[in-house]
Amino acid sequence: MSDRLSFSLQINGEEHALAVAPERTLLEVLREELRATGTRRGCDQGSCGACMVLVDGEPRLSCLSLAVTLRGRAITTIEGVETAGALHPVQRALIQHGAVQCGFCMSGIVVTAKALLDHNPSPTLDEIRQALGSNVCRCSGYAKVIEAIASLSKVRPHE
Ligand code: FES
Repeated sequence: MSDRLSFSLQINGEEHALAVAPERTLLEVLREELRATGTRRGCDQGSCGACMVLVDGEPRLSCLSLAVTLRGRAITTIEGVETAGALHPVQRALIQHGAVQCGFCMSGIVVTAKALLDHNPSPTLDEIRQALGSNVCRCSGYAKVIEAIASLSKVRPHE
């Protein structure tokens, strides 16, 4: 449709040179240009949270974000949350608590929970529920997800 623009994006600490149309979303660039398919396409209209990534540490719906607007920002996807080849503590907790069902929503939930705990290491259950407000689980397995994230809270919330 439009001419391609050349620019680079910093994704998981690496600069990626791109030449894409200005209307391409970050989700499209991740999945179709960079083959980073851990970020999921669910609704593609901002309703499900499956496409959540972090931009400068804050959750962002990649299906609603034009890639070209994110030049100079630090983008973190599910592929970037592991450290030294080990699962992120949120990933381990979700597995240990049996919170993963079909798994489709998990990459969005993991990055959202990571952002929450990075900003607030002691979230209450209400804060966890609020943080996950944009992440839909189509298996409706919210109780185990919240339990898993609560297990990482320094205050171990019970209500
Ligand atoms: Fe982006 Fe559903 S795919 S919110």
